[in-house]
Amino acid sequence: MAYTGVIPRYREWLNLPPHTQVISLLEGDTPLVLVPRLAAQLGGGFDLLVKYEGLNPSGSFKDRGMTAAVSEAVGRGAKAVICASTGNTAASAAAYAARAGLKAVVLIPEGKVALGKLAGALAYGAQVVQVEGSFDDALRLVVEMTRKHPLALVNSINPYRLEGQKTAAFEVCDTLGRAPDWLCLPVGNAGNITAYWMGFRQYHEAQGTGLPRLLGVQAAGAAPLVLGHPVEHPETVATAIRIGRPARGEQALEAAQQSGGRIIAVSDDEILAMQRLLAEEEGLWVEPASAAGLAGLAAEIRSGRFDPAGKTIVAVCTGHGLKDPDAVLRRTADLVTVPPRLAALEEVIL
Ligand code: F0G
Repeated sequence: MAYTGVIPRYREWLNLPPHTQVISLLEGDTPLVLVPRLAAQLGGGFDLLVKYEGLNPSGSFKDRGMTAAVSEAVGRGAKAVICASTGNTAASAAAYAARAGLKAVVLIPEGKVALGKLAGALAYGAQVVQVEGSFDDALRLVVEMTRKHPLALVNSINPYRLEGQKTAAFEVCDTLGRAPDWLCLPVGNAGNITAYWMGFRQYHEAQGTGLPRLLGVQAAGAAPLVLGHPVEHPETVATAIRIGRPARGEQALEAAQQSGGRIIAVSDDEILAMQRLLAEEEGLWVEPASAAGLAGLAAEIRSGRFDPAGKTIVAVCTGHGLKDPDAVLRRTADLVTVPPRLAALEEVIL
């Protein structure tokens, strides 16, 4: 049967109301890629796999939740959707709203959204509003707006977003035949880690697939769940997770704790080094935030806090590298230019 997207595929597992009218771009069904060269770099002796979520239609995992949120909104007659975003949710909301024939309004923190994400939101025809402030300020405005006006809120405080996003956990179990021993992933607003935990628990209760331990990873400059208090001025190169007051922070902490895992922080340098390693060792280019889960795993192994021997570990890489080319493009300063002569080419290559 042709692939139909995450809602038809997992409908019986999703708590969506009967009025839901499926709007899909055939999201999901993303590859779970073995990365043995990277595993060897981290010491070896375990199976490491990347859930490559950047291959979703708008380039990030957000499409899984967005198909659910927009499908529900359309089914109840909404005419417009609104969200706050560090970029990926904005592009995804814009794409699904376009597909549904709805208006999309996206609020982004001024000057802090990566180029590919802003371009996506504009390309799909959303109304993009910059907010003088952080993602947290933008989300507060969106909540106030939706209390007053009939706009459908499609941030992950919308429960249907999590219903869609938990399908990633189902896919991981379906591919492996069971849950992995550990799942590492970046944590920003904390919807994704919450959704994965929901998904793993649901599958385990129904079919005994086992439960992974969760390693949630924040950026050190935006690590409220590690510090134990909100961060007023979050700062990180991984702008996708530049969030100081995660809407689902409590649930994320609960998920990590219930799973026997933890939430940790890594530096921007560790994130960028992992982004580069993954691209150069395995041919997988992900955006900086998406490398955070793997950077956290590497840090845990290095410190001896974590023994990976014999384990099956899945790292969720949430968004495509093309979303945020800035860090990589800084290297264009080193580009070599040659005149169109073989001798000149030989000189620089050999
Ligand atoms: N990775 C990427 C690439 C993201 O865009 C986000 C969140 C996360 C990880 C963290 O997921 O928020 O569920 O904990 N991006 C949101 C956005 C905030 O607006 O696109 P989370």
